[in-house]
Amino acid sequence: MKPVSLVVQGALGKMGRELINALPHEPGLQLVGAVDAKATDDSVPLPDGLGRIPLSSDLDNILATCRPDVVVDFTIADATRVAAPIIARRGVNAVIGTTGLNQSDVQELSRLAQEHNVGIMVAPNFTLGAIVMMHLAKIAAKYFDYAEITELHHHQKADFPSGTALSTARLMVEARGKPFFLPPSEQGEAPRGRGKQVDGVTIHSVRLPGLMAHQEVLFGTAGQTLLIRHDTIGRECYMPGVILAIREVVKRPGLIYGLENLLNLQEG
Ligand SMILES: NC(=O)c1ccc[n+]([C@@H]2O[C@H](COP(=O)([O-])OP(=O)(O)OC[C@H]3O[C@@H](n4cnc5c(N)ncnc54)[C@H](O)[C@@H]3O)[C@@H](O)[C@H]2O)c1
Repeated sequence: MKPVSLVVQGALGKMGRELINALPHEPGLQLVGAVDAKATDDSVPLPDGLGRIPLSSDLDNILATCRPDVVVDFTIADATRVAAPIIARRGVNAVIGTTGLNQSDVQELSRLAQEHNVGIMVAPNFTLGAIVMMHLAKIAAKYFDYAEITELHHHQKADFPSGTALSTARLMVEARGKPFFLPPSEQGEAPRGRGKQVDGVTIHSVRLPGLMAHQEVLFGTAGQTLLIRHDTIGRECYMPGVILAIREVVKRPGLIYGLENLLNLQEG
């Protein structure tokens, strides 16, 4: 069977480099080109002496030359907004990991996918374990009245609480259909500032060098607690999710939002 050919956009960034190291080892996938705004060379080496692929800052030019099936984009939201119509107009599918896209961006991506009959997969989190953690937290949410989340990240993370912690809290509240209970010290008009509150779930944010991305969801009820914890230890954690997305996006025209939609998770 013909391999799925790929261009990585954001190829010189941290995620781009990880992808360029990982994708050439995947059966059935073929890396054919790379794009980055910071490109100064006209090619980039593949790992283990597998040769070089063309590199450019001009996405449309790379698409015309390399004719990929999929562009994998890990850049910044402004770059993705510009790139998406260029990719779709060429009839190329896209896997987008860039964060910071808003609801209207996602609607526009859906429109582009329909208009050009291509697949566009957007996932703010490609870590399989984090998606499973959120799923388990949704299940547990129905059985406990109290819950708190602690998210722990490296000290250079700019935002807090993390998007994953906020999503987890919202999904937990949605699953149980009502807010969680707050301890007496947190009740009343003004929250005491132990952390950000989302419908009774208090989220604590830790920022320290030495950490990567970690999250604990702690549930409590009389006489017992339940802890669900996920740790990101290396950037390779994103690769299985991205690879799954690449394999699926070529089969499914339209927009897919969220890796959970590819994992066949069962509701508890
Ligand atoms: N979805 C996920 O699971 C996940 C995981 C990690 C990172 N991310 C997101 O992926 C993105 C990239 O993360 P990173 O750590 O690799 O960042 P980075 O800053 O290391 O790399 C970004 C790269 O994009 C390039 N770039 C910027 N504008 C461009 C443009 N217009 N055209 C082409 N290239 C352009 C930059 O030159 C840089 O090399 C961020 O949005 C980050 O939040 C998502």
